[in-house]
Amino acid sequence: MRPRLPITRRTEIWRRLASSNRDFKHDYSHRPTTYNHRLPAEGEDPHSVDTQRTPITKVSDFTSFSRLWTNISNDPLKGQSSAEFFAKFPLVTHKKLAKRTERPKKVKMLASDFIDDSLYNPNYGYFPKQAEIFQATEPFNYNELQDTDEFVINWQKQYAKYDDSSKKELQLWHTPVELFQPHYGEAIARFLLVNYKLNLYPYHDLIIYEIGGGNGTLMTNILDYIRQMQPEVYKKTRYKIIDISKNLSEKQKKQSVKHGFRKHDSKVEIINKSIFDWKEFVPEPCFIVGLEVLDNLAHDMIKYDINTGKPYQGYVVIDEEGDYHQMFSPELSADSAGFLGTRGLDFLNTPYSKMNGLNHPLNENKFSQKWKNMFIPFNNSLSTTEFIPTRLYKLFEILNEKFPEHQVILSDFDSLPNGSEGYNSPVVQTILKEKAVTTSTFMVDPGFFDIMFPTNFHIIRDLYIKMSGKLIRTSKHSEFLEQWGDIEATTTKSGENPMLTFYQNASFLYN
Ligand SMILES: C[S@@+](CC[C@H](N)C(=O)[O-])C[C@H]1O[C@@H](n2cnc3c(N)ncnc32)[C@H](O)[C@@H]1O
Repeated sequence: MRPRLPITRRTEIWRRLASSNRDFKHDYSHRPTTYNHRLPAEGEDPHSVDTQRTPITKVSDFTSFSRLWTNISNDPLKGQSSAEFFAKFPLVTHKKLAKRTERPKKVKMLASDFIDDSLYNPNYGYFPKQAEIFQATEPFNYNELQDTDEFVINWQKQYAKYDDSSKKELQLWHTPVELFQPHYGEAIARFLLVNYKLNLYPYHDLIIYEIGGGNGTLMTNILDYIRQMQPEVYKKTRYKIIDISKNLSEKQKKQSVKHGFRKHDSKVEIINKSIFDWKEFVPEPCFIVGLEVLDNLAHDMIKYDINTGKPYQGYVVIDEEGDYHQMFSPELSADSAGFLGTRGLDFLNTPYSKMNGLNHPLNENKFSQKWKNMFIPFNNSLSTTEFIPTRLYKLFEILNEKFPEHQVILSDFDSLPNGSEGYNSPVVQTILKEKAVTTSTFMVDPGFFDIMFPTNFHIIRDLYIKMSGKLIRTSKHSEFLEQWGDIEATTTKSGENPMLTFYQNASFLYN
């Protein structure tokens, strides 16, 4: 069910009541998230009708409200049990879908595969088709700008080069690396140099792996700075970018062979692949840098049984009409089980279990959960959805297994406004006629929307420590930059410093 037409639920119900034609129609009166279809565990009776305790399989089995609703709207499963419906479709992954040129129908997949396909499918994915990272023609001279307002005006002037009408669909990203170059990259370079000199110099080379190098700006800024400040370290430096995007990898290559002082190609290697396909073992000590990469890492969808707390794995099923259904299985995927098992439940007693003011579903008031379950059709005794960072969990696994001597520095958003429904939910957004449009679910036609997740840096700090046994800390963006950035060079005449005040909803993780 694609939430694309602006038909209100009430109008649609009225239309249905008035209509005698019961042939198939896309039913815009309910959304992909209206029904929590539950799948039975192996050996469980798929035809049980106890709506509160056992898997519900037929739409008509939900509650009396749901029966009423069913009479006035299409049955999304067309009379089949959830188990029968689920079994009809083959299970695919984003890797399988990468070969397709058309958006899939008649398949089922984990929510994380749906998100990966939406963002990265080479033929219709959001990033390969639509996104470009803003790059200022010249770095801003903050000392000559009056204040933050003048910085913003100057920044907007540089948009002119993106105003080409042939690029109407283009979605422009803004990253702190680009907005505050070269100062942002230099702050990271200072952090790397101090840690390298303290722990590794002169016995080891300075080896830097950047995951997701974007336009190659961070690489240039870091290498320029090291060459200028520590020429003897520069001789021992190697910089490798691992990037999933073909276009951006080509841009990074061009950036590294620029003439004059910015030429660094003998130091640089560009590896065009996803970090999740990394196979090589890297025994040497190295630094892993990843800026603004975490927010687009796919997550999985988990709901909890409101009576037992048992987690259920979310799948997206796309039927023959191209409508989306969310279905929940008691069998967890290996990554979901790994993440949930490693995170444990202790965090529920800490203040950082709240995100954007929302309680974790296991901390929700039980009475209100049961009340909602009685009155909201199709809740099916399952909680609000939690989005869990299964790809990030995988990334930590890869870092530990393939780069055992690494130190890491990651940064991204710790909260995001205008999120879709759920706990730790993504912002699902696109630009339409120069305006940002958000939706309430990620289950929309793949490739048209960016899907960005906030990262709970406290949770991932604890996760990293449990997985690697190494210490690591987190700090707010501005704290890190106050320590490592050039504050004088980035302060405007009025004393305002945009590098410190922008991105207040971002954090760093580093060891
Ligand atoms: C928002 S951009 C950030 C670019 C740059 N770090 C910056 O801050 O300007 C995200 C980058 O991560 C890359 N990326 C996304 N997923 C990746 C993956 N699985 N493996 C490697 N690179 C990835 C994208 O191609 C892009 O270069």
